Amino acid sequence: MTTARRILIDTDPGIDDAMAIFYALASPELDVVGLTTVFGNAHTDVCTTNALRLLDIAGRPDIPVAQGASRPLAMNYRGPVAFVHGDDGQGNVHLPPSTRAAVPVHAAQFIIDTVMAEPDEITVVLLGPFTNMALAMLMHPGLTSFVKEIVVMGGAAFTSGNASPASEANILNDPEAADIVFGADCPITMAGLDVTHRITMTNEDLAAFGRTPGPRAAHLAAIVPYYAGFYRDRNHVDGIYVHDSTTISYLLAPHLFTWKELPIRVDTGHSVCRGRTLPALHDSDEEGPWQGRRAVRILTDVDARGAIDLELEHLAR
Ligand code: BDR
Ligand code: CA
Repeated sequence: MTTARRILIDTDPGIDDAMAIFYALASPELDVVGLTTVFGNAHTDVCTTNALRLLDIAGRPDIPVAQGASRPLAMNYRGPVAFVHGDDGQGNVHLPPSTRAAVPVHAAQFIIDTVMAEPDEITVVLLGPFTNMALAMLMHPGLTSFVKEIVVMGGAAFTSGNASPASEANILNDPEAADIVFGADCPITMAGLDVTHRITMTNEDLAAFGRTPGPRAAHLAAIVPYYAGFYRDRNHVDGIYVHDSTTISYLLAPHLFTWKELPIRVDTGHSVCRGRTLPALHDSDEEGPWQGRRAVRILTDVDARGAIDLELEHLAR
């Protein structure tokens, strides 16, 4: 039997973050060693409360939660997106506080300590703005040579953004941090809008949560309608785009995906293109601002039905 892959999830829960966390926890192939929290869908303290409560719901109070940055590296926080995830980040179900607290360590330090305790073993999964990982890289230069892989939900390499025409939300929330992380010295996989906008979990699919016993499915059945309402009203989509969970589907079943491998820079200027994730398309580009960067595995296509069925099957456990 192969040993489970050890993953650390940095997250801003977030309705689709909750799905991804439950999906990972339901996967025996993955061993979640900790959650770190960041601002994004809601303020950081709200995201930390949600992370703790999601672990309570999943019956995993053994997993530590470390709270991280409350603002981006070089700008003000753009603010919560209550219209997408609710005032509480969880579809306005207003969970009671957890009886647990976060560990008394900043998320960036927690990432460093976790990686250095097990060099080359830890996969870091980023589901929110990349601020905590960037801080960890600034605090510990050379850290990423000890990271097994970084898998991110974020960016839009060959398609338009969702938070602006140029940028995906996790990147626009901290472009400077994203540009640092895409310069990491380890394998990086990007599950951005190129692939996540190809995966629509329909309302018929989502109804499965209501039929599934257990506290995880009950929580998803309570929160997902709010998220689906956003997609119905703003995007005329029947269901939801499966953003954050795509990282977990990739880790479990990379054969479902196709990709291109190119280095990436992030536009950190203050123009309409701020937050754009720009791959080097020609060899000659790699001598410019992309010089010295490792190629990022940019997921570009997917067996969408296969990924949805895999996730639903896990979430029904
Ligand atoms: C990303 O933005 C957040 O709203 C979601 O949780 C996801 O991480 C999608 O652009
Ligand atoms: Ca997220």
